[in-house]
Amino acid sequence: MSNKFLHDNLSSVGSNLYFAGVSVKELAMRYGTPLLVLDEGKMRSHINEYKDAMAKYFGKGSMPLYASKACSFKEIYRIVDSEEVGTDIVSPGELYTAVCAGFDMSKAFFHGNNKTDKDIAFAMDNGIGYFVCDGIEELDAIQREAAYREITQKILLRIAPGIDPHTHKKISTGGIDSKFGSAIATGLAETMVKEALARSNVELMGYHCHIGSQIFEVDPYIDAVDIMSEFIADMKAKFGFEAKVLNLGGGFGVRYVESDPTISITENIKQIGAQLDKKCAEYNLNKPIIYLEPGRSLVADAGLTIYEVGSVKEIKGVKNYVSIDGGMTDNPRFALYQSSYTVLAATHIGEEANFKCTLAGRCCESGDIIQEDIYLPKVTRGDIIAVLVTGAYNYSMSSNYNRVARPGVVIVRDGESRIAVKRETYDDLISLDL
Ligand code: LLP
Repeated sequence: MSNKFLHDNLSSVGSNLYFAGVSVKELAMRYGTPLLVLDEGKMRSHINEYKDAMAKYFGKGSMPLYASKACSFKEIYRIVDSEEVGTDIVSPGELYTAVCAGFDMSKAFFHGNNKTDKDIAFAMDNGIGYFVCDGIEELDAIQREAAYREITQKILLRIAPGIDPHTHKKISTGGIDSKFGSAIATGLAETMVKEALARSNVELMGYHCHIGSQIFEVDPYIDAVDIMSEFIADMKAKFGFEAKVLNLGGGFGVRYVESDPTISITENIKQIGAQLDKKCAEYNLNKPIIYLEPGRSLVADAGLTIYEVGSVKEIKGVKNYVSIDGGMTDNPRFALYQSSYTVLAATHIGEEANFKCTLAGRCCESGDIIQEDIYLPKVTRGDIIAVLVTGAYNYSMSSNYNRVARPGVVIVRDGESRIAVKRETYDDLISLDL
């Protein structure tokens, strides 16, 4: 086995790629393509790195909440639950999936900028731990539904701290111009605190902020600690309310290609923890329980997508297209964000990659591309292609455009594989049609 790959769960035997100790070719033969494969050990090890570092540098009660928008299906909630950490859910669909998986809902945080009354009632009836309340209408609806059920509902207020995390605009959510939360700068955040404290069936526990995604620097988090600590102190002075909980959101970056840096989860958490200690001392605050909401950094490099090559079209002097049996329907991230991916010919490892090509999907859409202008060994129909680091925001963003069936999801652990989500069938595709 050699280890010259992007992440340590990749290796090769001869010219064959292995993922988490399992042959990619054998996975393709056994389960068919396209296929999303998830390395359970990798995911668990990331969860444990967060858990350990957060306990050490943030203190008791602090833990990661898996942002399940990154990849949501029953078995993934079971894995997260077995590690005794929480989850962030953002729709009644994610909530229902978690409930059906038997997830401990007291550790579930319900996000979203437009929760309907029905969503709120559904979440309460399923014992949701926290609402991350996005605005005044939601606060009123939570109060109403909680009063009706004669319960006191814990909430966090989603605050927009106004930080530019130096990331892709579309995935930056913590600025003032955002559909999410209430901005400190406009005074709305303060109004929300006042209003929340006045609701008798709502227990305000603290604040949430999320500054963006695929962030490689720690500085934006340090800024978030500074701004949120000042806000906590300010609200304590104005209303006598001191936040017990501070949720700093997700966003740690992940290495998709060689040129991406590697970040240390532990080192980031250590620095955030040190800043928090400093600020709590400065403002004379009790240290709140800190939550983080990692999505991508828990599952991205735990995932790999396997495809089969169908055609190789060489347009002399223009471009070479390698077409595969999946595409934007299972991974829309290049089409949406021009995201970078590392692509390997899984049965030609070690061969010279001198064939410049574009990896195209099968949809009737010229923008259906997985990656442009990459180098592969010369592949032909029937060859197996592996796209690395596809665990986050691939399966969860997949679609049935062109009535393409979604791939199955297989989990690998200790050299064994098991189906976690079945491949969609044509009958599944028409199952709702009358
Ligand atoms: N918490 C909140 C409130 C969020 O909005 C998000 C992501 C997360 C946590 C998790 O962030 P992560 O650790 O995964 O960066 N579809 C885009 C990513 C959208 C992220 C939206 N919010 C993509 O494919 O890059």
